[in-house]
Amino acid sequence: MKITEARFLGASASPGGGPPPRLPEVAVAGRSNVGKSSLLNALLGRHGLARTSSTPGRTRQLNFFVVNDRFVVVDLPGYGFAVGSAAERKGWGPLVEGYLRQRPTLRGVALLVDLRRGLEEEEGELLAFLAHVGLPAAVVATKVDKLARGVRGRALSALQAAVDPAVPVLGFSARTGEGREGLWRVVRAWLDAPERRL
Ligand code: GTP
Ligand code: MG
Repeated sequence: MKITEARFLGASASPGGGPPPRLPEVAVAGRSNVGKSSLLNALLGRHGLARTSSTPGRTRQLNFFVVNDRFVVVDLPGYGFAVGSAAERKGWGPLVEGYLRQRPTLRGVALLVDLRRGLEEEEGELLAFLAHVGLPAAVVATKVDKLARGVRGRALSALQAAVDPAVPVLGFSARTGEGREGLWRVVRAWLDAPERRL
């Protein structure tokens, strides 16, 4: 996909907040530090658009970016971080769940996982939640550049076996750009699908 324009649209730090729903939307979810912001930058070819950091759990809000004035991508706050106040950590649930449940323009969610950790309790819960609210999901294993090809292939097969067959599993590297094409195919199909019925 040719990206002619990608810019920050707005943020949401409380349930129901953020820019009003207008264009079809896809969201990127996952554990803190898994590489959500890096993936968005790599996908859009805009280094530094979404803020990345080596300090896990820095992003505590939903960040919305509009692309080609045609669709929106959303960088969700990471879960599973140990820093921050208990109140901040508790805020994640209502903020993200409210968004996933209620956003009328949302068409699909890419759940990012660390291939070396595989699916943990949180990822399983999130996939079940997405199925429950009728949102298409894909599992994207990030940072595959860190793994040797053989190890990577086996880990991806194990991951695919652990999820519903309807959920595609892809490998991705923000560093090498590997997996971009496959992820775009999934995203494009979501964006072309009809609006969800709430
Ligand atoms: P939070 O916003 O804190 O939840 O983190 P995040 O999921 O947005 O992760 P982020 O994109 O900030 O990346 C975390 C760290 O992983 C950074 O140091 C990145 O440079 C590194 N990283 C991200 N993607 C890749 C990748 O594909 N390969 C390698 N080797 N490192 C990566
Ligand atoms: Mg981030």
